[in-house]
Amino acid sequence: MTAFPVRRLRRLRQSPALRRLVAEHDLTPRRLVLPVFVKEGIDAAQPIASMPGVSQHPLAAVPGLVEEAVAAGIGGIMLFGVPAVRDAVGSGATDPDGILNRAIALAAEASAGRLTVQADLCLDEFTDHGHCGVLAADGTVDNDTTLEIYARMALAQADAGADILGLSGMMDGQVAACRAALDAAGYGTTRRDVVILAYSAKYASAFYGPFRDAVESTLTGDRRTYQLDAANGREGVQEALVDIDEGADIVMVKPAGPYLDVLSEVAALSPVPVWAYQVSGEYAMIEHAAAAGVIDRDRAIGESLLGIRRAGAEAILTYWAIEVAGWLNEGR
Ligand code: PBG
Repeated sequence: MTAFPVRRLRRLRQSPALRRLVAEHDLTPRRLVLPVFVKEGIDAAQPIASMPGVSQHPLAAVPGLVEEAVAAGIGGIMLFGVPAVRDAVGSGATDPDGILNRAIALAAEASAGRLTVQADLCLDEFTDHGHCGVLAADGTVDNDTTLEIYARMALAQADAGADILGLSGMMDGQVAACRAALDAAGYGTTRRDVVILAYSAKYASAFYGPFRDAVESTLTGDRRTYQLDAANGREGVQEALVDIDEGADIVMVKPAGPYLDVLSEVAALSPVPVWAYQVSGEYAMIEHAAAAGVIDRDRAIGESLLGIRRAGAEAILTYWAIEVAGWLNEGR
């Protein structure tokens, strides 16, 4: 006699209604954050060829983008600046009139508390050599001198009105340095408080390729002396723990898709919220594969984001934030 299966796991998969009811994870607009590139000196949006559907925006477009993001119900926008002029120490980053700080101020005014205004806190868009920190005489990235600049950048971004500072430079001690500067300036005591989002486990990744076009990076070489080695999972967890110890309010793993193991381990251990950044290369892979007709674009986008949620990310930075929020709002 044929032995019939005792456990029939297909039972819960038999109808859309049942599948919907038993789904463990889902996406919601409030968990999505849109990265936005703001470029100095342009007066119309400039498409980024390697990221179909993503553009560099002029400063004047910022309030409109904020309205769109608010209407979509997403959790926030993450601003990146593309300055017209760069120098060895990234002066544009600490200048209140620098493109990023002006974009923050415009976004904060437009948002008026309806979503979080977040800013990338890193020097790479502002230095002429393209590294995330300043260089020592021997050409290496000087950790501790960079920390002093990050502290000033934190104050400039907070003064401009940022709600959340996204520390992405991977210098040791950057969370403590920025937190100390904010504390000393009275943030959280005599004035509103500002959140530190640490890009804790940030890997030296080929998947940042299209982003470097988006910010017109001048980098030659790589970031392997400060960003993490893809071979190391434990080290990513340690980075998150050190950042939490230094006072990070939120930690992040980046890229997301190729590092879901690190994400899930950090999510299991972290007492603070854990986010993930679905980076430019992850975006570009799906867009270009879909354009070539080899993948169902919308399903691939949904699946990639759900995988990141399943691994433990409570919020996700994704270039599809507004589009996906639109789908969710329509009940898709
Ligand atoms: C650094 C920064 C980078 C990204 C976000 N912040 C680039 C890098 O570290 O080289 C990459 C984001 C993406 O690829 O979408 N300012």
